[in-house]
Amino acid sequence: MTLTALDAAKPSGLVESRRPALSVIASLLRNPLQAMPPEVYREKLVLAKTGGRTSLYVCDPAMIQEALTKQAACLGKGDLIRKVLGPAIGEGLLTADGAHWRWQRQAVASGFQHERLLGFLPAMIATAQATRGRWLAAPGPLDIGHEMMRTTFDIIIETMLSGSQALDVGKVERAISDYLEPTNFMFVYNLFGAPDWLPYPGRRKARASVSYLRTSLGGLVAQRRAAVERRGDLLDMLLDSADPETGRAMSDGEIVDNLLTFVTAGHETTALGLAWTLHLLAQHRQHEAAVLAEIAGVTGDGPLRPEHVAALPLTKAVFLEAMRLYPPAPVITRQVEAPFTLGGVSLKEGMVLYVPIQAVHRHERLWERPDVFDPSRFMGDAARERHRYAYLPFGAGPRICIGSAFATMEAVAILAVLLPALRLEPVSTRAPEPTLKITLRPKRPLRMSAVARA
Ligand code: HEM
Repeated sequence: MTLTALDAAKPSGLVESRRPALSVIASLLRNPLQAMPPEVYREKLVLAKTGGRTSLYVCDPAMIQEALTKQAACLGKGDLIRKVLGPAIGEGLLTADGAHWRWQRQAVASGFQHERLLGFLPAMIATAQATRGRWLAAPGPLDIGHEMMRTTFDIIIETMLSGSQALDVGKVERAISDYLEPTNFMFVYNLFGAPDWLPYPGRRKARASVSYLRTSLGGLVAQRRAAVERRGDLLDMLLDSADPETGRAMSDGEIVDNLLTFVTAGHETTALGLAWTLHLLAQHRQHEAAVLAEIAGVTGDGPLRPEHVAALPLTKAVFLEAMRLYPPAPVITRQVEAPFTLGGVSLKEGMVLYVPIQAVHRHERLWERPDVFDPSRFMGDAARERHRYAYLPFGAGPRICIGSAFATMEAVAILAVLLPALRLEPVSTRAPEPTLKITLRPKRPLRMSAVARA
């Protein structure tokens, strides 16, 4: 039985969570995923008071819908997220609010229309085939997270930036990791209103990473401004856009904000979703066998073709179920900009609201056997019986992920190229621990060996 909403025994379903500040700090530093109040896995609304700050965790699908759609105008991305991500991606599409956000979203929206996405499929398939070739030649043990990053990075560069050679995937991946590494400290400092100048481990490395990323992309913008030929890719869309209110074009800095937003948001999340999928399939061979049968039924003896990708519902369901258990972006954060009431709770300006996607996806009153990997949840009528907002790996409302269809198509194509050729064998029997560094990463590398299928 799948429940469609949490029971309404309490009018607001509100509980308060009070934990000693020291225990929250210890969790934040160790693994911020464990810093969430445990009640988020079973209650509708959880009010958490820590370090003099009050935050609201919204876990009920109907209330998530209300907050992210009806009340979207009362909520902004907030100071914390801008403090953490701003040095890297400024006020690009992911971090901007209001008119500045709207303009940027409109500027790139046409790049994500269905027809255009279909045109990206050959590049997605070719890149997955290159990964397959690499694994067949050197079967490992491989760091699957890194391998998936490499694959999705090449795809984002090929599709969004017309295959620029100016970026080095290894260096970019390291720079992103180095940048995200000390974010735990930033969260702790913010909780207690610590000044920005306070040092923390990894700060210097993080700054050097940002400088490397922004300089590389800045060079790309300069090159393209000087070029006569237009390619019609994301970079050209940004160069050609004008603010509808002022007619102003984007500055180089603003374009770099967005390029970095798309390069990071557009490859890391999908790579993590794929890495967790491959881990889960290696633990559940019966589901892997069913996926292989589906792919074989569609492709026959030939290679995967772009038109096959839409005909693989189980392969897609496996990816969606993996993102239920391990949502690559596990928490949505908002700050109240105009007061409103949610579930009987008055939200005041400045208050922070979280949608803990990770907890909603494993909520014991929303999902039957919430911790069990079961792709059938995303087949047939099962999804229709569920509240739309009980599953939201891509967020919801006006700020929903612009790349959701791109990512899903890409993931199915990559799985359908890799799985029939290779069986992945985990190197360790130890269960991987997911940790929160803005995205949901395995704490230690997911290492597996690739064995060619006969
Ligand atoms: C499995 C892969 C992905 C996941 C799980 C994911 C998740 C998300 C989530 C949850 C949000 C909303 C954040 C919020 O409301 O605060 C978001 C926004 C965004 N995502 Fe994704 N994403 C994925 C892939 C992509 C790809 C492939 C691209 C680009 C090609 C992309 C670009 C963006 C951008 C630019 C935003 C900001 C949109 C806005 O605020 O208007 N994402 N993503």
